[in-house]
Amino acid sequence: MEKLMVRGGRPLRGTVQISGAKNSAVALVPAAILAESEVILDNLPQLSDVAVLSEILQDLGAVIDRSDDVMRIDPSRAVSKPMPNGKVKLLRASYYLMGAMLGRFGEAVIGMPGGCNFEPRPIDQHIKGFEALGATVTNDHGSMRIHAKELRGAKIYLDVVSVGATINIMLAASKAKGSTIIENAAKEPEIIDVATLLNAMGAKIKGAGTETIRIEGVDSLRGCRHSIIPDRIQAGTYMIAAAATRGDVLIDNVIPKHLEAITAKLEEMGVTVHEMDESIRIVGNDHYTSVDVKALVYPGFATDLQSPMTSLLTQAKGVSILSDYVYSNRFKHVPELARMGADIRVEGRSAVIEGAKLNAAKVRATDLRAGAALVIAGLVVPEGVTEITGVEYIDRGYDNLVENLTRLGADVWREQDSE
Ligand code: EPU
Repeated sequence: MEKLMVRGGRPLRGTVQISGAKNSAVALVPAAILAESEVILDNLPQLSDVAVLSEILQDLGAVIDRSDDVMRIDPSRAVSKPMPNGKVKLLRASYYLMGAMLGRFGEAVIGMPGGCNFEPRPIDQHIKGFEALGATVTNDHGSMRIHAKELRGAKIYLDVVSVGATINIMLAASKAKGSTIIENAAKEPEIIDVATLLNAMGAKIKGAGTETIRIEGVDSLRGCRHSIIPDRIQAGTYMIAAAATRGDVLIDNVIPKHLEAITAKLEEMGVTVHEMDESIRIVGNDHYTSVDVKALVYPGFATDLQSPMTSLLTQAKGVSILSDYVYSNRFKHVPELARMGADIRVEGRSAVIEGAKLNAAKVRATDLRAGAALVIAGLVVPEGVTEITGVEYIDRGYDNLVENLTRLGADVWREQDSE
């Protein structure tokens, strides 16, 4: 196991290129098996979750060729195989294999997904969707068996706005007989990205990005070429890091519209933000004012940026209240930040953060975004080296992290963790 070492106190300066969106990629790779000829994905991030999903597709018989950020997936000879254990357990997004395999083969046996466990993450809405489409779903010793003789379009109202359930239903419904309507659908940009891929494959999906999505089922889907949208969470993390270190960073290859909520909050605190067509420049300032932040579904402030934002708010004067209305308990980073001198208490679904001077410490990342929060805190610490274990979580969502930060002038490296 490796650990990440961060010697703080240096403002980040320069340009960082943002890669393709992880949360799109982990849906687009499984979506490719719905096609009957080659799918080419461009701007694919170099992340462990993407690598695991491509191995799973290969286990199913798909032929995959990857070079740099391009992946060619030929799913024409893929076959249905049960996957109750093994690789599917390594990541949360393996639930997209359920919708994709159901659409392609009419069946799927998938072990309950693993991944970042910052709180219980149910999949009841995914199952409700599959059942509405005519599938039978049973839980057999911790793996989901999903089966349908024929998928039929249906009207599905989601009880909670769920990114995963919305995408999973789109995947299966693309191949159902007749029309499906998803009401109370999630509106995240990643949902539009998946719909764009599916439509390029021949699906008929309208309304992605709004709360009502209409899907006219088709008999077959074909290959296509698709470029993945930039990762708005990775971009937001670098924006926060630039502000926290009082740096000056151009964050390039982004869609500024996807970053409106974080942009607005940074400006409210006193960060200078310049928005261009495909990039955002963050210029930090010496003094920030406290703000209240509510993490909500898109277009609200992203829950995935809530933990990194906690670290920045330790640098603001006064008391900030940060509440998460998507995950009520996503605060595993708080005790670790407290070891670094942060003054934070958790009350219900809120963190109450008082401005404080941070110090170096040995801390542990327990999930991906908690890890990002600790890296930012480490960069802020004026002297000393912060040691972050649990780097494997951070690697799930930030490719080239050490290289990118080094290029921005940070003193960051990896070491073997002997403990
Ligand atoms: N929920 C249910 N039932 C369901 C599904 C969700 O109650 O069947 C609840 C969840 O417990 C949560 C809320 O609905 O309170 C929203 O969950 P959602 O389904 O939208 O989350 P997800 O699809 O499992 C994706 C991202 C997460 C991100 C959330 C919210 C992927 C692979 N994951 O998860 O990303 O936090 O949407 O935007 O796309 C991350 O990148 O660090 C990460 C965890």
